[in-house]
Amino acid sequence: MTTVLVTGASRGLGLEFCRQYCDAGDHVIATARAPDRASDLAALGIECHPLDVADPRSAAALAATLTGRPLDVLINNAGIMGDNTKSALDADLDEWRAAFEINVLGPAIVTRALLPNLKLAERPVAVTMGSQAGIYDRMRTANLAIYRSTKAGAHAATISLAHALKDEGVLCYSLRPGRTRTDMTGHDGDYEAEDSVRLMRKAIERSDPSWAGLFIDRSQKMYPYAGGFAA
Ligand SMILES: NC(=O)c1ccc[n+]([C@@H]2O[C@H](COP(=O)([O-])OP(=O)(O)OC[C@H]3O[C@@H](n4cnc5c(N)ncnc54)[C@H](OP(=O)(O)O)[C@@H]3O)[C@@H](O)[C@H]2O)c1
Repeated sequence: MTTVLVTGASRGLGLEFCRQYCDAGDHVIATARAPDRASDLAALGIECHPLDVADPRSAAALAATLTGRPLDVLINNAGIMGDNTKSALDADLDEWRAAFEINVLGPAIVTRALLPNLKLAERPVAVTMGSQAGIYDRMRTANLAIYRSTKAGAHAATISLAHALKDEGVLCYSLRPGRTRTDMTGHDGDYEAEDSVRLMRKAIERSDPSWAGLFIDRSQKMYPYAGGFAA
């Protein structure tokens, strides 16, 4: 049985990951920053822990709770968009800073805290949700400054993590859901969460060591301009 930990599981893609892994018979460790307010997650009746990915103390508390338990798959899913109408000239700086802490630092904070658990698994994988919005040659308008810059930062941080984790026997890469109808997109988009997650689960299952540091699309193809390094 695979043990999978999902951050940001209260709704959207994170909730759907939990639902599908659970239905597939895997052991799911859901995390949410406010589990008591995550009623859809509670309805799944699965193991759930509080986790604010931007807070190292919260990650350390989770790690202490999970001491000694192997973790096969870590899905660094939690993320925020910030005000998507704002440019680099008028974006709220506190919101921008918060987005940096959640989108860029969050995956590193959580992966660092849970590294002992990942190292107990046979072929551990840590993925971070990447985005087309963080691809340089797609940044052609002034808006979305917060999301674009922090997702580009998340890609870069994932590459750095992947290099370091390679020495620890953990495969790490960015994963692209595709534009999916969730709260983040105002329920606009090309795909339903159910389909995006089904395809991403397949990609995770087929994870290849050559993907270390790369940006992998839901169709398991590499996305260009998001970085990566030859394994
Ligand atoms: N939807 C898309 O089209 C799309 C495309 C590319 C990439 N992505 C990425 O996929 C991930 C999930 O997106 P989504 O569409 O499912 O978004 P969503 O519906 O807005 O859900 C975001 C999740 O992240 C959680 N979260 C936010 N800040 C957090 C924090 N500090 N600590 C822990 N959890 C936190 C939220 O929890 P609360 O309920 O507590 O706010 C929520 O569960 C994000 O990283 C996003 O950037 C999405």
